[in-house]
Amino acid sequence: MNPYEPYKFKNGVIMRNHFALAPMTTYSSNDDLTLSDEEENYYHLRSKNIGMVITAAAAVSKNAQAFDHQISVRDERYYDSMKRLRKAIKSGGALSVLQIHHGGRMNVPNMYPNQDIVAPSAVKADREYTITPRALKTSEVYDTIDDFVNASKLAMKAGFDGVEIHGANTYLLQQFFSPHSNQRDDEFGGNLQKRMFFAKKIVEGILQAKEELNKPNFIVGYRFSPEELENPGITINDTLQFVDVLADYPIDYLHVSLGKFNQTPIRDEKDREPLATKLLRMIDGRLPLMGVGGISTKEDVEAASELGYDLLSVGMVALADPDVVLKFQLDERPNNVFTHKTLPEPLYTRLHRYGSRLVGYHFEEE
Ligand SMILES: Cc1cc2nc3c(=O)[nH]c(=O)nc-3n(C[C@H](O)[C@H](O)[C@H](O)COP(=O)(O)O)c2cc1C
Repeated sequence: MNPYEPYKFKNGVIMRNHFALAPMTTYSSNDDLTLSDEEENYYHLRSKNIGMVITAAAAVSKNAQAFDHQISVRDERYYDSMKRLRKAIKSGGALSVLQIHHGGRMNVPNMYPNQDIVAPSAVKADREYTITPRALKTSEVYDTIDDFVNASKLAMKAGFDGVEIHGANTYLLQQFFSPHSNQRDDEFGGNLQKRMFFAKKIVEGILQAKEELNKPNFIVGYRFSPEELENPGITINDTLQFVDVLADYPIDYLHVSLGKFNQTPIRDEKDREPLATKLLRMIDGRLPLMGVGGISTKEDVEAASELGYDLLSVGMVALADPDVVLKFQLDERPNNVFTHKTLPEPLYTRLHRYGSRLVGYHFEEE
């Protein structure tokens, strides 16, 4: 594929090239969890030549809130904020895709009074800052599915081109799929099929909402992480079976979350076949696969395209250079300096914590 040419989804929607802005949390909402002016500017600047902008993870309910100053999309009170977000993205001509999210047991504790940290089971994550969550009752699991569907309906009404279901990076959907965090004995837990049930209900609910609101062109994407290090934990074979199920739904794309686009399995170091190759073989052209992870030069773009990804998303490099796709196209080096001018202040500050992922990048003050 030539990533600089337009891409046509099966539903007919056209993306002006094959690049998406990776979803990136900005920690920068207003105190009332609406979009701040700084965030509006962040999206406006990055929507000019990229094909699609996937927003920062947006919380679908009060107990979905995972980070400090994460935008909310939990009810009508956030509708105007959502419209501003959509407009900021459309101002540059990119497709606007809202990432819908629930943090589950990964939510940062003590963010607000009476915080209710919930998860499939009362099992603490192996991360220092986390606490043991409260297991959701079966009826609450159904309410949470409704929260994802309602947020998607709001997105449809607010004029977004689509939603991306955040099923990756250890958050709630992944927690339902993982044998580490899901030890339920109702219909949402048990064997692999049952651990897929939560995600399937959300996908089906959103597809039904598209019909109800007569939005046949509304894009539905699904993001997942292929493996977990925990034992027991998600294996690539679990994921391949899950992807096989997802690829049979009339959704629009799958987005694998990887630190490096050509990564090989982390659970079996002897296996040298890239995860992308395994996933593409299973998907077998049923849906486009979006790849991500360290795509920061024109050569990376070529290597990722050769690997077979249909779509590519760019994260860190687009934080440093809002015009990165144009730079790739013109064969120019993207900027590698983070500046206050193009990043919301809390994100700029937070980036200092990203450790090894900052290799090759600099801060304005340095
Ligand atoms: C500051 C920052 C915030 C992120 N927030 C999200 C998020 O909200 N949702 C998500 O799915 N991934 C999130 N990610 C992961 C990115 O989408 C992407 O997968 C990752 O950065 C690897 O791509 P890159 O090497 O191009 O940066 C975040 C990454 C960064 C650097």
